[in-house]
Amino acid sequence: MQSLSGVPVRVCRLEDVKDESMVLVRVDGREYVVGKHNGRVFACDAHCPHRYAYLHRGHFNDNNIVCPLHGFEFDIDTGRLVKIKPWHNGNNWPEQDPEWYRSGDLRVYRVDVGEDGYIYMHV
Ligand code: FES
Repeated sequence: MQSLSGVPVRVCRLEDVKDESMVLVRVDGREYVVGKHNGRVFACDAHCPHRYAYLHRGHFNDNNIVCPLHGFEFDIDTGRLVKIKPWHNGNNWPEQDPEWYRSGDLRVYRVDVGEDGYIYMHV
C-alpha cells in the first residue's frame, strides 16, 4: 500500500472489523487502529498518547476508547482526552505525580468505506 499525505489508503475489508471491535493496521510502516462502534467506522493512532499502550486491546465506553493500561478515555470522533481514571495507590506510586497524568489527545483520521467493500483511511 502506498500513501501520500491526505490521500486515502486502503487498509482492510469492512468485514474484517467486527461490530464493537478494533483492529491493528499498518500503513507505510506505521500502526493505526481501525474500529467499528455504534455502526460507525473510525480510525486513530495505534498507541495511547499517555504511555503508548496498544489501543485496539481496549474497549468502548459511550463514544470513547478506553485505554487498556490505565483507563484514560479518548473520544473517537475528536480524539480528545475526555476522562482520566483516578488512582489511589498510596503516596509512593508514580501515579500520585501530576506529571504522570499528562497526556496528549489521540490523533484521529477520516475513513471512508468504498463500494469495493474496503475501508480507506486518510493518513
Ligand atoms: S497508556 Fe493509555 S492511559 Fe496510560
